[in-house]
This record gives sequence, structure tokens and C-alpha cells, in this order.
Amino acid sequence: MAQDALARRPLGQTALSVPPISVGCAPLGDMKDTFLYSVSEEDAIATVKTALASPIDYIDTAALYGDGESERRVGLALRELGGLPDGAILQTKQGRDPKTNDYSGETVKRRLERSLQLLGVDHLHVVYLHDAEWTNFNDAMAPGGPVEVLRSYRDQGVIGHLGVASGPNDVELQYIETGLFDAVITHNRYTLLNTSAEPVIAVASRRGMAVLNAAPYGSGILAKGPEAYPRYCYQQASEEMIARVHDLSGICYRYDVPLAAAALQFSMRDPRITNTIVGMSRPERIEQTIAFATRDIPADLWVEIDALPPLPADDPETNRWK
Ligand SMILES: NC(=O)c1ccc[n+]([C@@H]2O[C@H](COP(=O)([O-])OP(=O)(O)OC[C@H]3O[C@@H](n4cnc5c(N)ncnc54)[C@H](OP(=O)(O)O)[C@@H]3O)[C@@H](O)[C@H]2O)c1
Repeated sequence: MAQDALARRPLGQTALSVPPISVGCAPLGDMKDTFLYSVSEEDAIATVKTALASPIDYIDTAALYGDGESERRVGLALRELGGLPDGAILQTKQGRDPKTNDYSGETVKRRLERSLQLLGVDHLHVVYLHDAEWTNFNDAMAPGGPVEVLRSYRDQGVIGHLGVASGPNDVELQYIETGLFDAVITHNRYTLLNTSAEPVIAVASRRGMAVLNAAPYGSGILAKGPEAYPRYCYQQASEEMIARVHDLSGICYRYDVPLAAAALQFSMRDPRITNTIVGMSRPERIEQTIAFATRDIPADLWVEIDALPPLPADDPETNRWK
């Protein structure tokens, strides 16, 4: 990739200028059930501070991650720094209360207020409607519902822009088509192992929305390898998927390219994708991520990867995390 691989670009049609990578703070929520490992507060704070001193000064968190723990730790880092550095970008997400699964407007309002307190800020660049598959479209869009609550915070200037960040592609498309959102986050569905979010990316980018592609490593398998982390999208990876990771590793090995670099650049090289959200929980990951992002990858590597037959999981109909 060229030297300008980390050049900032507009976030869709907003006036925000963002780097092509953001630091995903789900692991910082210390979610052992999701990632199967624990993350210390010390590592979390160091990761955020290192990110904010780097070219990838874009923080992605959510009220759901550790039910506030990720935001609390990001907030501790921001307090140590005396606030968000100039030019850095902070975004979070609001949705259900994980204790009750309530996804009402009141819940979203209460949790947004908590996010502001935990993060120690009075402005959020972008807030996403999170995992809207946990509610239904009519309830979410109803008067007093979560979308209206987020819009009113946007109108007051507390939130800069609204986005949608769900799982299933059909849910994402329903919200995209309202025209109310400036950005969309896809996750685990546009990677070397699964490209089922293709229609979401196509529609959103045609509309001029910012497209953020989260989890380029499929939650870790494409960075740590299937021996260390045989999971995809927060669950055990299928045998076919693990076999495919071995095929991909073999191709990368022959070109002397780390698999993680190919996995990251698979997302970054797509001109429709504004930003790739990479989860990490150690300060040294920032430098490693920048090295993966700027690594030269021969065109023939992509030709070989493109020639691999699609995996069953690539079919949205059989996609078990759909
Ligand atoms: N609905 C949504 O909006 C949604 C859904 C999913 C994800 N997201 C966002 O997107 C982010 C990314 O997703 P993700 O974190 O689930 O998955 P991911 O980015 O595919 O992978 C994260 C995993 O990769 C590992 N990793 C990162 N860099 C590495 C490196 N240089 N070497 C070795 N391992 C490395 C991390 O390990 P360490 O922890 O050891 O650093 C972590 O286990 C999330 O954190 C979250 O902010 C949003």
C-alpha cells in the first residue's frame, strides 16, 4: 500500500475528517464471554492513549461493551489526557439495556446520559443505533422511540451525526433507506472469510453515507490464527472456515505478507469503505496495525485470494451469524 494509506478522508458527507482506521474498543469492555479473555484497566487506558497520540486517533466504543466498562475506561484515558485531543474522533453506540433487553426511547436516553458521564464529554462526533436486530423497525422509529431520542440529541448538538450499526444485512438496509443516518457500521460480514455485507456497502456508499467496516479479523482468527483463536464472530469457527484460514495463510506465506495485513487491507483497499474498525486491547497493537496497513502487498496475492471458491458461510442464507 502507498505511503498515503493512512491519509484522512471525509466521513461520508459530514465535515469530519477521519483516518481510514479506527480503534475498536469492544475488547476494552473486558468481555470474557465474547472474546474469551480478560483485559486489564491499565492495558485499556494505555491502548486508548497510544491510539490518540497516533495517526489512528479515532475511538469506537459502545454503551453495550461491558455494559459501560469500555466507555468508563476510554473516559479514564481521556481524563488523563485532559480531554479528547484536537482532531481526534470519538463515537459510541446506543441500544438495548443488556440486563432487561429493553430497547425503548427512555432506555436509550438514560444510557446516552450515562455514556456522556463515563466518557466525560459533552459532545459525541457520531452515535449509532446499535444492534437494531434486538428491536423492530416500527418500535425503533415510533414517536418517543430510540431513533427519535437520538435525533433530538443531534438537534441539540450533543451528537454530531447519527449512524446505524447492526448485524443482519436486511436490518441495516431498512434503516439506511430512511435517509436519517450519515454512517453505517457493518461487522464480521466483509472480511477474507465472509463478504455477505456487500449489498449494505453498495447501497450505503451509493447514497454517499460513510461506510465503516468493523471486525476485519472476524473477531481475531485472521490476526491471531486459528490455533490461538479458532473463533469467528464471537463463536467457534466452522471446520470449513478454519481450513480456509489455513489456505489464506499459505498464500500469504508465499508472498511474505502477514495474514493480518491481508485481512486489514482487504477492507482498506475497497474505495467504498471509509474506515475499518479494528479491535485491540494492548498499546503495541497501534504500531502493529499501522505496519499492517502500510505493508506493500503484491497484486498477485489478491488474484490468488480472489480465485478461492466462496465459503458456505459467505452465503447470507446459510450464514449462521446472520
Ligand atoms: N454492531 C457493531 O457496531 C459492531 C460489531 C462488532 C464490532 N464492532 C466494533 O468493531 C471493533 C472490531 O471488532 P472486533 O474487536 O470484534 O474484532 P476484530 O477487529 O476483527 O479483531 C479483534 C481481535 O483482533 C486482535 N488483534 C488486533 N490487532 C492484532 C494484532 N496486531 N496482532 C494480534 N492480534 C490482534 C485483538 O487482540 P487483542 O485484544 O489481544 O489486541 C482482538 O482479539 C470492535 O472492537 C467494536 O469497536 C462494532
